[in-house]
Amino acid sequence: MSGITAAERAAMARARTLALFGPRGLNPQVGAVILAPDGRTLAEGHHRGAGTAHAETDALSHLLPGEARGATAIVTLEPCNHTGRTGPCAVALLEAGVARVVYAVDDPGERSCGGSDRLRSAGVDVARLDEAEGEALIRDWLFVQRTGRPRVTVKWAQSLDGRAAAADGSSRWITGADARAHVHRERSAHDAIAVGTGTVLADDPRLTARVPGVDDAPQPVPVVFGDRAIPADAALRHHPRGIRTAGHDLERELRSLAADGIQTLYVEGGPTLASAFIRAGLADRLTVYVAPTLLGGPRTALDDLGVGTIDEQRRLTVTRLEQLGSDLLVEASTESEQ
Ligand SMILES: NC(=O)c1ccc[n+]([C@@H]2O[C@H](COP(=O)([O-])OP(=O)(O)OC[C@H]3O[C@@H](n4cnc5c(N)ncnc54)[C@H](OP(=O)(O)O)[C@@H]3O)[C@@H](O)[C@H]2O)c1
Repeated sequence: MSGITAAERAAMARARTLALFGPRGLNPQVGAVILAPDGRTLAEGHHRGAGTAHAETDALSHLLPGEARGATAIVTLEPCNHTGRTGPCAVALLEAGVARVVYAVDDPGERSCGGSDRLRSAGVDVARLDEAEGEALIRDWLFVQRTGRPRVTVKWAQSLDGRAAAADGSSRWITGADARAHVHRERSAHDAIAVGTGTVLADDPRLTARVPGVDDAPQPVPVVFGDRAIPADAALRHHPRGIRTAGHDLERELRSLAADGIQTLYVEGGPTLASAFIRAGLADRLTVYVAPTLLGGPRTALDDLGVGTIDEQRRLTVTRLEQLGSDLLVEASTESEQ
């Protein structure tokens, strides 16, 4: 059998929903559905995080021995082929007598890939359902697998003349309420949020995600980059996720964040830290809130980016333009995202 049936497509959509019940972190979010030969759903499963059963073994665990014989397993990620803290899922599916496997995304892991070949060589009918939604589900995890670091968004707010603060360093509030609400939604959509010590000392930010109308918005882990001490009475000390500190070696710090399951980092400045990320080629996406105001003076939104001549300019691709109240949001991606 080769084509993918409507029941299998519907089961894949369900598997994607199941995947989202699992936590973001070191392991990908994966969902699975086991279908009987007549298309009925026999069992569902999802992965609950590192060290726990993978989605397909979780689904199989709900069935009696022999119940999956001749069944079709629908999985959002290619069944793995290696023994980590759990055994290879390809083997679990073979032992259960599954006749067909439909999966969405190839496993990019050097050690875990090859599950589909193993199943095929054991006589299982394996098909790949190549849908954008499957990749989108674990886009950030795939990014970490490819690069070894979280996907980085650098955000700043600026006046129309490109200043991030007034001459005395005060910067609250350049933008209006709609832009700020947008920032809170963005915070909440990231695993961690970064600021430099300069911003902590100047602004005393809380760095919580306060999303209008949402009481229990996910809170990113606040990461403060720099050597200076965080004051004992800093508002950040009340953050529900605690404070993580980081040094100046951005690549090393990013690898360490990825090793702790952080897939996305939202860099909120200030200008020194934002520029350091961009200069190092570690910014994948920029979100710039432009307010219709003029500040003049020396406090530019970015400082030295290592661009000495026009040939070295950092060309971007604008991916979104939106008016938020009286401000403008410009979203752009850098080369690493294209
Ligand atoms: N408009 C906006 O969007 C926005 C956002 C945030 C802040 N601000 C404004 O920006 C001002 C503060 O800016 P800032 O540039 O001084 O603060 P910053 O970028 O928050 O902090 C700079 C500090 O980051 C640390 N750091 C860690 N790794 C680094 C690296 N690889 N390269 C360089 N620095 C690194 C250093 O701290 P150590 O010296 O401690 O090692 C450095 O002094 C305030 O006026 C604030 O209001 C504006």
